[in-house]
Amino acid sequence: MPGSRAETPAGRGARPGHGPAGATRLIALAIPGLAASLAAELRSTAGVAVTDTGSDGRSDVVLCTADGSALRRVLASRLAEDIFVEVGRTLRSEGDRASWIAGRLWRPERARRALTARARLTGAASERATFRVIARVLQERSFLRTELRRQLTEVIQRQQPAWRCADPADIEVWVVEYQPGRIIAGLRVSDRRMRQRGGRDIERSGALRPTVAAAMVRLAGQPDGALLDPCCGSGTILVAAAEAGWRAEGIDIDPDAVRIARANAPGLAVRAGDVRRLALADSAVHACVSNLPFGRQYAVQQDMPRWLGAALAELARVTSPGGRVVLLAPAIPADSVPGTLALTDRIPIRLLGTSATIWGYDRR
Ligand SMILES: C[S@@+](CC[C@H](N)C(=O)[O-])C[C@H]1O[C@@H](n2cnc3c(N)ncnc32)[C@H](O)[C@@H]1O
Repeated sequence: MPGSRAETPAGRGARPGHGPAGATRLIALAIPGLAASLAAELRSTAGVAVTDTGSDGRSDVVLCTADGSALRRVLASRLAEDIFVEVGRTLRSEGDRASWIAGRLWRPERARRALTARARLTGAASERATFRVIARVLQERSFLRTELRRQLTEVIQRQQPAWRCADPADIEVWVVEYQPGRIIAGLRVSDRRMRQRGGRDIERSGALRPTVAAAMVRLAGQPDGALLDPCCGSGTILVAAAEAGWRAEGIDIDPDAVRIARANAPGLAVRAGDVRRLALADSAVHACVSNLPFGRQYAVQQDMPRWLGAALAELARVTSPGGRVVLLAPAIPADSVPGTLALTDRIPIRLLGTSATIWGYDRR
């Protein structure tokens, strides 16, 4: 079962390793709370070794190495929001001044190797490129983040005289403090398309980030028949489930959501219905994965505890014993959960400034 149980939480990973000799060092960013899930996804990718995890305060960070043939597989990650080829890393304890840190991060030989790897992955040349630096630090006692950005920009400009600063730029150099005192720099090799995963044909408010949908589908385990999203909205989870190999089915109480999900997930079975009274036989599906209405953007039809109790009873009924139920919701009180569901995962995440939790249950 892929999931959080055997995974390393962000910020408490193994000591940073360097991975096999000759492998390319990469940095992957995830939604806050999903470092362990992304690390598990990368670990299960042939030729990839995870070396450390952390958080830069805005994103979770996973460091890994990939051998030649695995590089492209990392770019195909479903949980990563961004990928970078590492240029350099350093510790504040080796000298905590922005200019010193910038000098230690960007060394000509390592930069050349990183640019070669970037060219292999993106096909983009770097001879007369524009560039910009993005800096994120965990504390600003010794220097401001903007000072580190300025210093690294100067170092790069000295070493790459043909490059020109611009925003947007051909080359983005990110420098992040991913654990207190540990700073790493990388060249971005992903773009907006990675987060959007091809995008939705029709947008609907409250739609889930595709990377979170993929993390939830992963928690449902190996594809095994039917997976139901009974509050499917615009169909993001259905698309992620179908990509993972499930036979995905969607239900939503709002006919407009049904229309939009059908457009976004063509060919999948989507119909109108109420999660509290599903027109499905007992044990009809192997997994239920859903981003429940939080009662803010999408109202529920009775008081939240009773609504949750009725919804979870139905999800337990239609999921076969041995199957999985995975839900995104701010809170699911234990007394709303039927005895046939055993809590196995509880992963707090931050989404656009709000807190929510991914709850995973085994159907007994
Ligand atoms: C947070 S949204 C889901 C968003 C979806 N994951 C997406 O990416 O677009 C919650 C959905 O639950 C639906 N909903 C609310 N009450 C429902 C009920 N009783 N049965 C089924 N769906 C319901 C809403 O119409 C809304 O589409």
